[in-house]
Amino acid sequence: MQDWIEKINSSESLEQLEQLRVDILGKKGVLTLEFAKMKTVPNEEKKAFAQNLNTQKASINEALESQKTILMAKALELQLEAERIDVTKFTPNLNHAATHPVADTMAQITSYFQNLNFSVEEGPLVEDDFHNFEALNLPKYHPARDMQDTFYCNDGAVLRTHTSPVQIRTMMSQKPPIRMIAPGTVFRKDFDITHTPMFHQIEGLVIEKEGVVSFANLKFVMEEFLTHMFGDVEVRFRPSFFPFTEPSAEVDISCIFCKDESTGKSSGCRVCSHTGWLEVLGCGIVDENVFKAVGYEKVSGYAFGLGIERFAMLIHKIGDLRSLFESDIRLLGQFR
Ligand code: PHE
Repeated sequence: MQDWIEKINSSESLEQLEQLRVDILGKKGVLTLEFAKMKTVPNEEKKAFAQNLNTQKASINEALESQKTILMAKALELQLEAERIDVTKFTPNLNHAATHPVADTMAQITSYFQNLNFSVEEGPLVEDDFHNFEALNLPKYHPARDMQDTFYCNDGAVLRTHTSPVQIRTMMSQKPPIRMIAPGTVFRKDFDITHTPMFHQIEGLVIEKEGVVSFANLKFVMEEFLTHMFGDVEVRFRPSFFPFTEPSAEVDISCIFCKDESTGKSSGCRVCSHTGWLEVLGCGIVDENVFKAVGYEKVSGYAFGLGIERFAMLIHKIGDLRSLFESDIRLLGQFR
């Protein structure tokens, strides 16, 4: 009897305890079998025999009950411990945020020119004819105004096709000298491997008293900027045309995809169309007609403009422009 009580008290699980109950009080339990012996006990001893068994049964039941309470409390404690949530715990897996390569490249270029004391200017995305074309020496008959390129709005307004209208707005609202950049979104009706209808540019404009800045200053600033962005590359200026600059140039860097590290020469590849050069920006000396349009006299200056997507693609070696706008988490995840 004392044995059973000890077994009950040292049982470690509710299943074990239930098994003990069956072994003692079940149909074929040891105590049940004792009760069955009643029949064979002489009458005068029956009462004492029964009393003894009943006290034993009562003690067993009491032990079972109290052990059950203890084990249930223990089980609850284990369950709570297993389900415990530490709300202060840091989960690095949730840290999925990353800067988009276009935003990142825009910030890099912006801060480069801010360090050279350029101010950052803004203008509206929906522009009027004067700021987007006319004041930039793009008269009505100019081919760059062709329906192919420009999104026209109903009331004669356009979605700006470049950041150059910010040059006009800044010159008309400030006095020279001016040293500004204008990063922003621009729109053109174009869609293929190298064109998306929405993309980003950075415009630059420097205006000083007549004779202070020259093409040589522009060339130096562009060379410094491009080697800052692309490392050890050659920079070349090609004569070109923009209505708002004269003379104008397009600027190339030696191809960073087929560069031979030992000679530093680019031998030509698919990316540079086997020329060894990559076109990266347009620039020039501000045309006199632009100054006339904004009412400036006795000043000179230079301007430059570049596509941010192009820079981002070259810096990160991204093959298809459109992948920058597909929001594919596998591409974006690489910039974390
Ligand atoms: N606005 C021109 C373009 O969109 C770029 C440019 C800006 C060229 C300033 C010269 C000077 O192509």
